[in-house]
Amino acid sequence: MNSLISKTLIPSIFLCFSTRLTLTTNSLRHFKPPSLPPPRLMTSDSSQRVFQLKLDPVTGNSEWVVIEDNDELPEFSKEPLLATTSYLDMLNDSYRNKVFRLAIDKTLTKPCHVLDIGAGTGLLSMMAARAMGLNGMVTACESYLPMAKLMRKVLHRNGMGKAINLINKRSDELQVGVDIPSRADVLVSEILDSELLGEGLIPTLQHAHDKLLVENPLTVPYRAVTYGQLVESTCLWKLHDLYGNEAKASDGIYLVPAGLDTFIHVKSQQYPMHCDAIRKETKLLSEPFKIFEFDFWKRPDSHGETEVQIKAIDDGSIHAVVSWWILQLDPEGTIFYSTAPGWIKSPANIGKGNWCDHWKQCVWFLRGTGMKVSKGEEVLLEASHTETNVSYNVNVRVPQTDIRQHDYRSGGFQLLLSSERIATYGDNKWRLSMLAAVRNALQGRVNRLCVVADDSIFLTLLAANLSKTSHVISLFPGLRDKGAQYLENVAKANGFSMDRVEVSEKRKACLTINDTHGKKVDLLIGEPYYYANEGMLPWQNLRFWKDRTLLDPVLSEDVLIMPCKGILKACAMSLPDLWRSRHCLGEVEGFDHSVVNTTLGACGELPAPKEGPSLPFSIWQCDESKELSEIFTIVEFDFSKPISPCYGKAQVQFTKHGLCHGFVLWVDWVMDAENSIIVSTGPDHRYWKQGVKLLTKPVAVGINGSKSTSEFGSTVVEAFFDPAISELIIKHAFS
Ligand SMILES: *[C@@H]1O[C@H](CO)[C@@H](O)[C@H](O)[C@H]1NC(C)=O
Ligand SMILES: *[C@@H]1O[C@H](CO)[C@@H](O)[C@H](O)[C@H]1NC(C)=O
Ligand SMILES: *[C@@H]1O[C@H](CO)[C@@H](O)[C@H](O)[C@H]1NC(C)=O
Ligand SMILES: *[C@@H]1O[C@H](CO)[C@@H](O)[C@H](O)[C@H]1NC(C)=O
Ligand SMILES: *[C@@H]1O[C@H](CO)[C@@H](O)[C@H](O)[C@H]1NC(C)=O
Repeated sequence: MNSLISKTLIPSIFLCFSTRLTLTTNSLRHFKPPSLPPPRLMTSDSSQRVFQLKLDPVTGNSEWVVIEDNDELPEFSKEPLLATTSYLDMLNDSYRNKVFRLAIDKTLTKPCHVLDIGAGTGLLSMMAARAMGLNGMVTACESYLPMAKLMRKVLHRNGMGKAINLINKRSDELQVGVDIPSRADVLVSEILDSELLGEGLIPTLQHAHDKLLVENPLTVPYRAVTYGQLVESTCLWKLHDLYGNEAKASDGIYLVPAGLDTFIHVKSQQYPMHCDAIRKETKLLSEPFKIFEFDFWKRPDSHGETEVQIKAIDDGSIHAVVSWWILQLDPEGTIFYSTAPGWIKSPANIGKGNWCDHWKQCVWFLRGTGMKVSKGEEVLLEASHTETNVSYNVNVRVPQTDIRQHDYRSGGFQLLLSSERIATYGDNKWRLSMLAAVRNALQGRVNRLCVVADDSIFLTLLAANLSKTSHVISLFPGLRDKGAQYLENVAKANGFSMDRVEVSEKRKACLTINDTHGKKVDLLIGEPYYYANEGMLPWQNLRFWKDRTLLDPVLSEDVLIMPCKGILKACAMSLPDLWRSRHCLGEVEGFDHSVVNTTLGACGELPAPKEGPSLPFSIWQCDESKELSEIFTIVEFDFSKPISPCYGKAQVQFTKHGLCHGFVLWVDWVMDAENSIIVSTGPDHRYWKQGVKLLTKPVAVGINGSKSTSEFGSTVVEAFFDPAISELIIKHAFS
């Protein structure tokens, strides 16, 4: 990890500090930029300190804390520190490791000074030291303290402790003459994300060329080239165009009323995604085209722009630009690595093999319903990049619409929602079921008080619209004033006036009877499944339950709580690719990595009695998967009562033959007491992550009564939920 860098996904409890922490749809490698930057280090011994954004998933509060030492973390959070990161997946990408090894061996033919920026476990540094017969000098720069500590162990294990000079600083804090004796002759570094630039490649290279490297240094990699392709894909369209999708709903609720069509949208950014998972629903509208080229061996510019003329190869609507990159590791162009989707058959893509999650393709959404093109038509793509990101604008030859004009029309007001929430809000079926649930709840009740527990703008509109006499208080803990401003703008179109709707000004989720004007709450509603901060496990969304518990003193006796309960569901599954990517590490290109297993959250082949952590994944993005059992219930969380520890147990029959790699767990949110309206967040739904508990060894399973005695017919799964730490402990026993 380096300046602007973090190779980590949001761990469930802690977010690591890094200047740039990205987070996009399925990113497992990066963090989201926290709204507050970490405080500057005030002490002189800064190298021994690390900031963590400590996030309590149940209360939703977060704060920056200084961690002097990993060992000072509370017991329960020690393991997850790096366990939910994608370091493991990255180290298990044998193709990646191999191309770096080949290129380093080829480049380092004589002893010299090598600098490794963002060194991680030290793999590239060790490759460099070995290539020089341990006669050169290697400086490994790693700013993230827990990672640097892990690297020290790995180096020691491989007898490289003396050969490599490990510096626990960001590369832009290194000084020649202080930290390193001289400028380095060679840079080896892998600080690339799916978007290429997100981990700070450009500023890091700029600083390195200015201050840390000799003139004309050698670098591994040598160059990266980004490519794109125009696609039509309804599922991608649904992820960003709420206005267009809402137009098809017919429930009389207008999240985006006519004329305010740019009020709500997704952030304009690249969304990392395994595009092979949507291949069947995707129509390719162009051949792949080259966009940008970045040379590592010279100082890059902070900004760049280019235009590409593209010929449409089919009729359709351009909904998105899918992009990827190809890394050329050596100057001669014989060693490559590509993040292209599987449908691209370029030589650089051959031999890659296994699915991996640390690099995916990126998707850039075109605004609105897309751009219609006919076969043979020319399209102009304008691409530009900043220091940390790439963006596009697509026009037919002559620029037609400028999005900035739209933004101007909405008076600059914009509510940014996640693409998953946009897709759900635009889903007619989901809306109708919410409508039915809230209508039933408000039926026959007048002058009621309804509290929206979270940031749900849809439920606020619904409650205000459906009952002309009720009072609605929305807590909007994340949206705050922005939410209030939004409601004022859309109130008229949704048939209510703001004198019945208010946004709580309090910072806490907890209201007192004074805040509710002396009234008790009759209806408490929310969309708890959206507390799902990117990297959270499904049961960490039970923050709703905690909030409900805090509100207990103001709830009326016959209060309706929606959802009224959460059902923890699970299914045994075959997940060969995911399992492989979370496999324990032994030798990696000849270097012993067995000390990293536990810290990096390895699951597969973990020596007993250790167990891997539960990890959040979107199953539909995990390549091959197959359900081997029926979906079963483990435990129910009853929101009509205050939060408490819960325990449940289920006996499960396998319904198919196969190799079971683990259990996928999720919560079904039951809206009404009749159990008729349920929001499921299971693996057949795309907008949520599931929790995955991988087995240390895959187990052959079969239908009960099968002839093969080596197959298991059933299993028992137990789960214990501890609200104090939002953890779910899962046990299983095959029989
Ligand atoms: C990654 O895991 C697989 C297990 O499926 C293993 O065969 C492979 O060697 C691992 N790769 C590395 C680099 O350790
Ligand atoms: C892209 O980079 C620019 C400049 O660094 C920054 O202002 C902008 O917020 C970035 N956009 C995204 C989506 O991260
Ligand atoms: C919402 O209010 C509008 C205006 O009063 C009304 O036309 C519409 O039917 C309402 N929607 C629902 C779902 O009742
Ligand atoms: C409500 O307000 C009154 C008067 O300001 C105050 O005495 C009382 O303590 C408040 N009650 C709560 C629960 O905050
Ligand atoms: C890590 O995994 C490897 C491969 O399964 C194993 O040989 C090694 O003992 C493990 N190390 C630890 C510390 O668990």
